Amino acid sequence: MPLVPTGQVVAAGPVCAFNVITLEHAEAIVAGAEAAGRPVVLQVSENAVRFHRRLAPVAAATRAVAANATVDVALHLDHVVSADLWRQAPEHGFGSVMIDASRLPYQENVAATRAAAEFAHAHGLWVEAELGTVGGKDGEPPIDPHAPGARTEPAEAASYVAQTGVDALAVAVGSTHAMTVRSAALDHDLIERLRATIAVPLVLHGSSGVPDEELRRAVAGGIGKVNIGTALNVALTGSVRRTLDVHPEMVDPRRWLAPAREAMAECVAHFCRVVSGDAAA
Ligand code: G3H
Ligand code: ZN
Repeated sequence: MPLVPTGQVVAAGPVCAFNVITLEHAEAIVAGAEAAGRPVVLQVSENAVRFHRRLAPVAAATRAVAANATVDVALHLDHVVSADLWRQAPEHGFGSVMIDASRLPYQENVAATRAAAEFAHAHGLWVEAELGTVGGKDGEPPIDPHAPGARTEPAEAASYVAQTGVDALAVAVGSTHAMTVRSAALDHDLIERLRATIAVPLVLHGSSGVPDEELRRAVAGGIGKVNIGTALNVALTGSVRRTLDVHPEMVDPRRWLAPAREAMAECVAHFCRVVSGDAAA
């Protein structure tokens, strides 16, 4: 199945977008999406690129796994701060990019995002940006997602979308990145007010920490793209710990990576079923 544009899978959504760190992540995400029979977005973050030291190897591996999928797959470059990196997105086969200028004051966020969106659109890319503060990003101090000012304000968000020309908006509605326990409580009233005010798809970040029932309500209320990263790492690392605990003599990484990859695929299939409203979840 060929790669499809991100805008197409989001428009047909709601859709899950999972973060790729290793080759096994990409393989597990495609296997899990195939098991659930759902389209999926494979996303590579700037942090993952930093881990691999450059974009080309992780992009090539992700693209190759996606190209063999039997469900629709889109490729997205996630949480990009560096202009040097988002400029590389088209040549490496990404259909979309998230410009993350959310740390900047409002007017600077608008200017940086508008300039990046102009470049991206000129190269046929779909563009996501963030307004508000979804905390817990790598290297950031933890924030209280319920603190005043952390949430996305609907009128400001509408003006931000109009000024920047972005195709989707990541919103701060009570989730936080990197939660290893699924205990976040979302502001569903705010999601509905954002949905009523903003025409472009809304994106939920930090979805690993959101319980199934909260996710179902969020997509029913208007979230179109659900970003999940940490939950796969919880599944991966938990599996590796269990395997090596029972088999401390094991040294061949394929022996402990195979069940870890399977654990990630089951996690992917579960999130895909929950987000698509599949009763089997
Ligand atoms: O952009 C990526 C997501 O927001 C992942 O967040 O690792 O907390 O699930 P998470
Ligand atoms: Zn995120």
